Amino acid sequence: MRQTSSSSARAVAALASVVALLAGCAHAPLAQTAPAPAGAEAAASPSALLPAPMSVTPAAGAFTVRDGTVLVVPTGDAGARASADYLKDLLARTRGLDLTVREGRAPAGAIVLRRSAQGAREGYDLAISPKGVEISAADDAGLFYGAVSLWELLTQTEGRADAVTLQAASIHDAPRFAWRGLMLDSARHYQSPEFVKRFIDVMALHKLNTLHWHLVDDQAWRLEIKKYPKLTEVAAWRVPAGQGPANDIDPATGRPRLYGGFYTQDQVREIVAYAAARHVTIVPEIEMPGHATAPITAYPALGVDGEAPTTGMSDWGVYPNLYNVDDGTFAFLEDVLSEVIELFPGEYVHVGGDEAVKDQWKASPRIQAQMKALGISDEHALQSWFVQRVGKYLDAHGKRLIGWDEILEGGIAPNATIMSWRGVDGAITAAKAGHDAVLAPAPTLYFDNRQSDSGDEPPGRGNLIDLKTVYDFDPAPAALTPDQQGHILGLQANLWTEHIRSEDRAAYMFFPRAAAVAELGWSGADKRDWNGFLDRLVPQMGRYEALGINASDAAWEVRFTDAFDRTAGRASVTLANQVGRGQIRYTLDGSEPTEASALYAGPLDLALGARVRAATFEGGRQLSKPVEKTFDALSVRRRQDDELKTCSAKLVLSLDDDGPMTGPREPLVIDIIEPCWKWEGADLSDIKAISAAVSSLPFNFQIGKDRDAIKFRPPATPEGELEVRLDSCEGERIAVLPLKPAVASAGVTELPPAPITPRAGRHDLCITYTAKSVDPLWAIDWIQLVPATR
Ligand code: ACM
Repeated sequence: MRQTSSSSARAVAALASVVALLAGCAHAPLAQTAPAPAGAEAAASPSALLPAPMSVTPAAGAFTVRDGTVLVVPTGDAGARASADYLKDLLARTRGLDLTVREGRAPAGAIVLRRSAQGAREGYDLAISPKGVEISAADDAGLFYGAVSLWELLTQTEGRADAVTLQAASIHDAPRFAWRGLMLDSARHYQSPEFVKRFIDVMALHKLNTLHWHLVDDQAWRLEIKKYPKLTEVAAWRVPAGQGPANDIDPATGRPRLYGGFYTQDQVREIVAYAAARHVTIVPEIEMPGHATAPITAYPALGVDGEAPTTGMSDWGVYPNLYNVDDGTFAFLEDVLSEVIELFPGEYVHVGGDEAVKDQWKASPRIQAQMKALGISDEHALQSWFVQRVGKYLDAHGKRLIGWDEILEGGIAPNATIMSWRGVDGAITAAKAGHDAVLAPAPTLYFDNRQSDSGDEPPGRGNLIDLKTVYDFDPAPAALTPDQQGHILGLQANLWTEHIRSEDRAAYMFFPRAAAVAELGWSGADKRDWNGFLDRLVPQMGRYEALGINASDAAWEVRFTDAFDRTAGRASVTLANQVGRGQIRYTLDGSEPTEASALYAGPLDLALGARVRAATFEGGRQLSKPVEKTFDALSVRRRQDDELKTCSAKLVLSLDDDGPMTGPREPLVIDIIEPCWKWEGADLSDIKAISAAVSSLPFNFQIGKDRDAIKFRPPATPEGELEVRLDSCEGERIAVLPLKPAVASAGVTELPPAPITPRAGRHDLCITYTAKSVDPLWAIDWIQLVPATR
């Protein structure tokens, strides 16, 4: 981690929302905002909607919504009433505006929700005139989205207001795609029902309408199934990997504390109803035939060998455990699905189908005999047979089957919909074959990838998927004809949570990238406008704050690059942010940067000892938390893990998988297949020693045979050594730092400095470690060149 203050600011924000959850309130408290202005807020422009609407026609005049403005719905129209009540509640909690909902005749100067005889599904018209506001739509969802758009217009500026003026305009709007989704993985890490509801609320405010809920995986089963109680009694709990959790003894049991949780059927019903009220459909995912370690652990007869897996449930990656193909297993799956169908009224059930490594089926004489008896030629065809059998059950119960793109292999089930994750090829194949498909390609729409390479970024996968990368995704694959494109139902971003331990981090990974997904899913291709999107994101960040959502400021976070002039003893420091927008303001006296602070205009020439604090401002809003760095004789010769390069990019992750169950841990960037770092151009002149801080991490990755390919140099001591080599990873070894002092610690340990022979000039340094085996991994937090003179 870098030496910045923004992580502690984030920790404070996290604490605030945890407190809100503990208090049992579904909505986090409002942000502290400026006092209500005496007069009306400035007129809001309808072009500020996010996602961008189909069309906006400006008109003359304005209308002021104020405390007491009446929201009128047709008498007895429950759908319209629900949207009006929702808008009233939303405005009260995010803006402090107090509207009155009424049925029947509209008085002058009202907001009217009205049914239109026809209109696009989910579409709406929103007309603002000096006489009032009218929202009209043919369906309930359209009225809801019209109300959401009006809320956006009323929250262009922040803080409490008792009156907001809107410019007159007519907005005509409807979505581009029917499936505008996000996937939440509640299996790897569990989120509370309160969080899931708050998340659904924020989805709806982006006009996102599909929550794919990943409830089952190797690591846990999270859904109560009445007929199989052990699924949640046993398979919803695990001891996390690593020595921190192993040493975290639960006084109640005398054994390591268990991590986990599950959703009762009552909680699920409540969440489903909450989602339906916000026009969000939940698609539950029950993984099969792979990613099945958890249910097999609870009921070993479901597995290929009929024995509980020996693998445990605390590794990431792809476990080898598959369901067997006995009638008893299908009876189990049908029982489970019958309860799932009863709980989730939506059209689709997701049956997984991904990453089912076929080794266990190949090795089992019983499975091979069954294949022969069924006339099935290979294991892909067996998976296809498996999925088709389940598909028939779903068909017979009025549901549609959706699965990951592997269900194309060996033959796709009739009526199956494909969720394309290995790029968009699965969707293209499916659409060409006349099947529907949803685009959810890795890595672009995999939101467990980090959105910045800043040291403040929480853990995740190592690909850099920044906001622009998401916004630039094209949801209309060029390989498809217009007719075939009709099979693309839409798109979805997935948050896998192996490395996303907390709810605040889940929110951070989703937002604001989900706003880009919302625009791709809702707005026409002709509306794509990166700079316009960023303009509209500025007020959106204020809405996230008002909603208590820990959205990422990575797009605007100020990043430092320093060049150290050794002779002059000065540092030249460059400040920048990811999107190259806004004003960067900074202080040198330790005070918080504000809109009145110095405006950054070019590299700062600083004497050693200078302390820079900086943040990005735009549109009257501070868009990033202040970051801070002191440039002194040591810091200019130190590189944090995020400032080093990994030697390869085989499987780069940012991990914090150790330490106590709760509380801070350092995210550490490491290529787990080739743990090796490079410091390019390190100035070794006048350097007498090298020190480093390291942390061990459990090697809890199911990566099959790839594990055998991970090689280390042999250690000279039992615990191994960190080694620094000159110019290349095969170059002269200039420093050896024994790892022994760090072995007993679950956190970061500073190793004693290793002396080096001084040498002139700049050199690339390669940092590796020696080890007997892959477990534990060793990750570098920072490496320091220690000067002979200070
Ligand atoms: C997946 O990422 N295995 C769908």
